[in-house]
Amino acid sequence: MDIARTPATPDGNIEMADAAVEPKEPAVIRREDYTPFPWLVPTTHMEFELGLEKTRVTTRIEVERNASADHSPSIRLNGDGIALVSLKCDGGECAGHAMEGDDLVVTLEGDKHTLEIVTEIDPSANSQLMGLYASSGMLCTQCEAEGFRRITFFPDRPDVLSTYTVRIRGPKAQFPVLLCNGNRVETGEEGDSHWAEWHDPWPKPSYLFALVAGDLVARSDSFTTMNGREVELNVYVRDGDLDRTEHAMESLKRSMKWDEEVFGREYDLDLFNIVAVSDFNMGAMENKGLNVFNTKYVLADPETATDGDYDGVEGVIGHEYFHNWSGNRITCRDWFQLSLKEGFTVLRDQLFSQDMGSEPVKRIEDVRVLRGVQFPEDSGPLAHPIRPDSYREISNFYTSTVYNKGAEVIRMMRTMAGEEAFRKGTDLYFDRHDGEAATCEDFVKSIEDGTGMDLTQFRLWYSQAGTPKVAVDLAHEGEEAVLTLTQTVPDTPGQSDKQPMPIPLKIALFDRASGTHSGEQLIVLDKASDTFRFGGFAEKPVLSINRNFSAPVTIQRDISGEDLVFLAAKDDDPFARYEAMQDLMVGHLVAASTGALSDADREAGRGDIVAALKAIVEDEALDDLMRGELLSMPSQTYISEQIEAADPGRIFAEREALKGAIGSALKDELHRLYERAEKVSYSMSAEAKGARKLKTLILVYAAASDPEKAAELAAHQYDRADNMTDRQGALMVLTGIDSAERTARLMNFYNRYQGNALVTDKWFSLQAMSLHPKVIEHVKALADHPDFTLKNPNRVRSLYMAFAANPHGFHDASGEGYRMIADLILELDPINAQTAARFVPALGRWRKMEPGRSALMREQLERIAAAPKLSRDTFEQVTRSLG
Ligand code: ARG
Ligand code: ZN
Repeated sequence: MDIARTPATPDGNIEMADAAVEPKEPAVIRREDYTPFPWLVPTTHMEFELGLEKTRVTTRIEVERNASADHSPSIRLNGDGIALVSLKCDGGECAGHAMEGDDLVVTLEGDKHTLEIVTEIDPSANSQLMGLYASSGMLCTQCEAEGFRRITFFPDRPDVLSTYTVRIRGPKAQFPVLLCNGNRVETGEEGDSHWAEWHDPWPKPSYLFALVAGDLVARSDSFTTMNGREVELNVYVRDGDLDRTEHAMESLKRSMKWDEEVFGREYDLDLFNIVAVSDFNMGAMENKGLNVFNTKYVLADPETATDGDYDGVEGVIGHEYFHNWSGNRITCRDWFQLSLKEGFTVLRDQLFSQDMGSEPVKRIEDVRVLRGVQFPEDSGPLAHPIRPDSYREISNFYTSTVYNKGAEVIRMMRTMAGEEAFRKGTDLYFDRHDGEAATCEDFVKSIEDGTGMDLTQFRLWYSQAGTPKVAVDLAHEGEEAVLTLTQTVPDTPGQSDKQPMPIPLKIALFDRASGTHSGEQLIVLDKASDTFRFGGFAEKPVLSINRNFSAPVTIQRDISGEDLVFLAAKDDDPFARYEAMQDLMVGHLVAASTGALSDADREAGRGDIVAALKAIVEDEALDDLMRGELLSMPSQTYISEQIEAADPGRIFAEREALKGAIGSALKDELHRLYERAEKVSYSMSAEAKGARKLKTLILVYAAASDPEKAAELAAHQYDRADNMTDRQGALMVLTGIDSAERTARLMNFYNRYQGNALVTDKWFSLQAMSLHPKVIEHVKALADHPDFTLKNPNRVRSLYMAFAANPHGFHDASGEGYRMIADLILELDPINAQTAARFVPALGRWRKMEPGRSALMREQLERIAAAPKLSRDTFEQVTRSLG
């Protein structure tokens, strides 16, 4: 499965119960099987004797019978590929103990005992990056979800809360900084070695444990909480990165303030540390008082980070900080409840970012992620409810469904309750469950009691997977507008015949002549079908529905091109306006790429789109960030999702042709817009960010209509750029155009940033995402580049995630793109299973593709499934994808 298993070293009477016989199929864990742990672990004392190749861990736990659980004559301590050096019970020999697979089961006769467990681990050999591992000379941990069991034997489950005291000892020169959760209570030196003792007063589950040791420097600051407590803040990075930490620190202070103001949450320790690590499986981790971050979400300066990167840092810093309450003070009872902390915390980070920047643009970005990633997941073989019912490997359930749909579900409750009542609900939740390991049900009940809403039927959003479809029919009868809505919740693996769910829809009915409406309304569709009547309409109005994306559903509306053009120009809800523009383009591209359009209709369709875009270019009331959204084409994935047996080649061709048509038809308008944007100098103002967004967008249209001219413009933008947003945007466009400018700027970019890992990642990504006809050859060559390595997840993702998300390369009709991703999965699986498994969903879309590609994708999944030894992670994803 994971790292090569060292057989446990028996220190006496360990019986190797079936240890050598690994079950062929990893077991299925079910939500309904939850039982409380029979033991409480009030305190945990640990001592780490650090070494890159050998770290010795002594763990002393107090255990007591859990009165509210069934009696058990033994305690199960989870392990994962670790060797037991010694074990003591109450200072002496244990009554009995045995290995059961990877776990250590110890016989316990009385009600209260002290266990001492010694393990030895090799962090330098830990390529899975779970547990304690080495990353360019430093040591750090990742324990969520089940990494702590790779450090020591422990009840590694989120409902076992313990108070930790940890002493870390190591060579001073190698590890001058020694960090852990909570507060540093004591330090000392002995010759070349030194130690630090940390105490975390807040009981926590093992997944929130963290330790960092290394040669680090910090940007330090402080924050005074709403009750006047002074908190020391540090952002730790490697020497040389300090001048790229200002944005992270500012984002942290803004997060702390925002959570006090908006959710009434105050920080609860005297110290808050963030550490940036360059080898990391995910974005970041909310360990109590010691957040560990992927460098990608800490380091930023104008020369090396784009506007998108700045937003990413702010959002993830907020996310991890907000977990201190939604995740740490109140944690999860079991991993099926993951959305309890993740869905809620994503909503909190989204609201935070909305408040820090442009609210509508942030909403559009969040919906784009939901529809680009979560909707495909929800309509494919890996679909699962936001509260899953079973898993084999929990790492596979850190999904867009649990995170992003989870956030949407809570957002709907907020929309229905209103902000004020919702706050009463969250206050009650924090109050009622502080210090507990809670469930999604506990959350819903608190919102129910706090707001006074009846959420009985709403709970279906937690148990039913699949994106509901809402069919919309608007009729005009006498003076009435008659709106009939019909919902269906599609079948998903293991679930059929679903119940109708409450779907809150914000709507407005526009008067065609005046272009106004008499007020937005919230209606809730909670039946399979329902009719809503609105009086006072002499003429049939134009319906604006699911405004601000009030529900995570697909709207099927039979709306004319003319009405979409109307809404794209007039709707006062920015999201609805964006949606009208997207619908106009999606409708056209779906029809065009499924052969449903005559040449004349294609011309007419393009004409409508161009006219609507022209109005947007010329609308002086718009800010440029929003204008950029309205001018953006729908992604190929999103278009593809609307088609039964999608042909990526045809969609690509039609989408490029439409881009070209827009570029030619609006050449002069876009040129003028570019000239205006070019005059805005670099700053972080909304105006300047908007200008940068437009410049690159205009280059994208130019590249499709006049590539030669576009190459020249892009090279010019690249050469005079004083920031990464302009430079990366220009290079992105250039990588798609076979030209002398392309070769020269790619080389310049590589040389200019050599040694900067995050920017080198961009260099890999841009080439893997490119529209260049030879993108497959390029990616193959890049895999052999000296800077490429399978050991670093950021680098792997920069090349292969970018490629798998590039329909032009991945879906090449030859099937070569599928083969490359399958090869990668097989090669990466033994090194980093969690990261390998994340590539499987791309191949799992086979059912939605035209027959040729469908067969080629399936063939690759079958090839992976046939491999002799797969990780639990990849095994589960491949099996479900074929299923
Ligand atoms: N709780 C972390 C976050 O939301 C994610 C950690 C996931 N880690 C993992 N190995 N699956 O920020
Ligand atoms: Zn999270």
